[in-house]
Amino acid sequence: MLQKYSAFCICILCCLVASLSGHIVAYYTAAVYEHHAILNQNSTTLTDRKAALEFMLQNLDIYEMQVAAAAEKGAQIIVFPEDGIHGFNYTRQSIYPYLDFLPPTHLLPWNPCLEPDRFNDTEVLQRLSCMAVKGGMYLVANLGTKVPCEPHHFQCPDGRYQFNTNVVFSSNGSFVASYFKQNLYFEYGFDTPNKEQYVVFDTPFASKFGMITCFDILFYKPAVGLVEKHMVKHILYPTAWMNQLPLLSAIQIQRAFASAFGVNFLAANIHHTELGMTGSGIYSPSKSFFYYDMTSENGKLIIGKVPVDPSEELSAGHNAQISFGTDNMYSNQLHWIHSEVCEAERGEHCRGSPLRHQMPPSVFQAEMMYDNFTFTPLPAVQGAVKVCSSSFCCYLNYTKTMVSNELYALGVFDGLHTVHGTYYLQICALVKCGGLEPETCGQEVTEAGTIINFQLWGNFTTKHIFPMLLTSGMTLHLPNSWGWKDAHCYMNNKNMSSGLVTAALYGRLYNQD
Ligand SMILES: *[C@@H]1O[C@H](CO)[C@@H](O)[C@H](O)[C@H]1NC(C)=O
Ligand SMILES: *[C@@H]1O[C@H](CO)[C@@H](O)[C@H](O)[C@H]1NC(C)=O
Ligand SMILES: *[C@@H]1O[C@H](CO)[C@@H](O)[C@H](O)[C@H]1NC(C)=O
Ligand SMILES: *[C@@H]1O[C@H](CO)[C@@H](O)[C@H](O)[C@H]1NC(C)=O
Ligand SMILES: *[C@@H]1O[C@H](CO)[C@@H](O)[C@H](O)[C@H]1NC(C)=O
Ligand SMILES: *[C@@H]1O[C@H](CO)[C@@H](O)[C@H](O)[C@H]1NC(C)=O
Ligand SMILES: *[C@@H]1O[C@H](CO)[C@@H](O)[C@H](O)[C@H]1NC(C)=O
Ligand SMILES: *[C@@H]1O[C@H](CO)[C@@H](O)[C@H](O)[C@H]1NC(C)=O
Repeated sequence: MLQKYSAFCICILCCLVASLSGHIVAYYTAAVYEHHAILNQNSTTLTDRKAALEFMLQNLDIYEMQVAAAAEKGAQIIVFPEDGIHGFNYTRQSIYPYLDFLPPTHLLPWNPCLEPDRFNDTEVLQRLSCMAVKGGMYLVANLGTKVPCEPHHFQCPDGRYQFNTNVVFSSNGSFVASYFKQNLYFEYGFDTPNKEQYVVFDTPFASKFGMITCFDILFYKPAVGLVEKHMVKHILYPTAWMNQLPLLSAIQIQRAFASAFGVNFLAANIHHTELGMTGSGIYSPSKSFFYYDMTSENGKLIIGKVPVDPSEELSAGHNAQISFGTDNMYSNQLHWIHSEVCEAERGEHCRGSPLRHQMPPSVFQAEMMYDNFTFTPLPAVQGAVKVCSSSFCCYLNYTKTMVSNELYALGVFDGLHTVHGTYYLQICALVKCGGLEPETCGQEVTEAGTIINFQLWGNFTTKHIFPMLLTSGMTLHLPNSWGWKDAHCYMNNKNMSSGLVTAALYGRLYNQD
């Protein structure tokens, strides 16, 4: 079983828990639901509103049961995934009957559950609003909406905008906020809003919530802007994310966002293993309640307690005291410490090691996630390596404390990613390769037996870096420490309990996209 998720705090109201220092940290209880969406097999066929509603009610019925289950656990807010109500693969025409009307903000306040007749075509919003009332919690869901526009406007060909929309209802059912997804991912049914939205709202249990959707997580607007300019502390994240290893599995990027910005991150994904979709969680700067499961087709309700103020949680050893040693310790001419160690110890761990099969070249190119990385291998039990891409250099010193017959490599990439989206990356990544041949480095791997203590760093030219640490069996670890020192971003880790799959500093240069 690959199921992993931590115990939850059962509490009816906000739990008050004394931290080790004796300082009182306030928490609220959150739920996210990984939904095995009932998908529309006829998504490109034109249908009518009545049939569309009948279809969507199947998913809404499941939502209602989950709200009830979350209420029993004392949840104060629940998040549902992107596309969870209508599914995906629609065209602009075929999705139309599935869209709810979204009233303009000047017509708020509005309580759809109490005032169902105020606007036409709001059946889904009404149902969600009533669920929030029944569960007595804030509810966040994603649906398709239509907004009338001037038909003569050049961006308004048919009199309406169609948006991929997140909506929020308060625990009394009132409509609190909506957000239109900015960074669409090949969604032909939807329009990109003319201007990015920074949606911020407060709740009685915590303040400064913001929303983003799926692909938005990789871009500045609005994800990073919410945190850096609008001081958001809690990000609500409906997603329909296809996992891509070694660097972009759902739980990996979710965890990394919470770490990078020191915020809480409430992520709900679709569960469809045949589409590679699983991975949801509730993350604070120093804790993860996550779920990843490729073995069953069931949905999963995750409950976690979340600090009201994430900055009160120490983010694991951020900016600890560390030393890099001198630059000339590191070289992409391999130090063959390995052979020396093996000669000296005649250790068991040497027998099956990659070196016995083949000496990989000290620097080689391999494709990882459609990008051309430059790698240097780690064939030794202990060593120090460096690999550069023009003026961007990555360094690693490491000690393998448990050695398996596996090839690891340190990779560097500094360039524009252009497949399935365009975005500029600067990455230092230590990965377990798919096999023992250099060309397998960058392949998708989920299991690993080698335990490595390491220090990884690079001279990035961006401050926007997502620290990632993924271990065997799709489990997450937080690095012992990470942060900045002497203009280098670093990650330091030792004493892990499972094999290393990926350790990466995933940097984004938003202004070079
Ligand atoms: C899809 O369309 C076909 C033919 O129109 C119909 O027989 C089938 O029941 C539809 N399937 C679903 C899931 O609606
Ligand atoms: C939607 O499209 C994806 C990618 O083209 C495909 O793999 C998937 O099977 C489709 N899903 C449905 C429900 O049609
Ligand atoms: C809702 O639609 C009906 C039928 O088209 C129409 O008569 C009514 O005025 C509409 N109500 C609102 C509030 O727009
Ligand atoms: C419902 O909750 C909202 C947001 O907390 C509040 O502004 C509004 O007054 C409440 N409405 C009722 C009828 O209690
Ligand atoms: C990858 O980069 C190397 C070195 O810059 C180059 O020789 C090679 O052609 C590139 N491969 C691809 C697929 O871009
Ligand atoms: C990064 O370090 C390398 C090696 O010391 C150096 O050549 C390069 O100029 C540095 N790059 C930046 C952007 O500082
Ligand atoms: C890496 O090198 C630094 C500086 O010499 C040292 O403090 C650290 O313990 C080393 N880490 C490992 C895992 O070798
Ligand atoms: C390493 O982990 C073990 C068990 O997980 C623990 O007992 C030990 O204190 C840890 N050592 C360090 C230096 O963190």
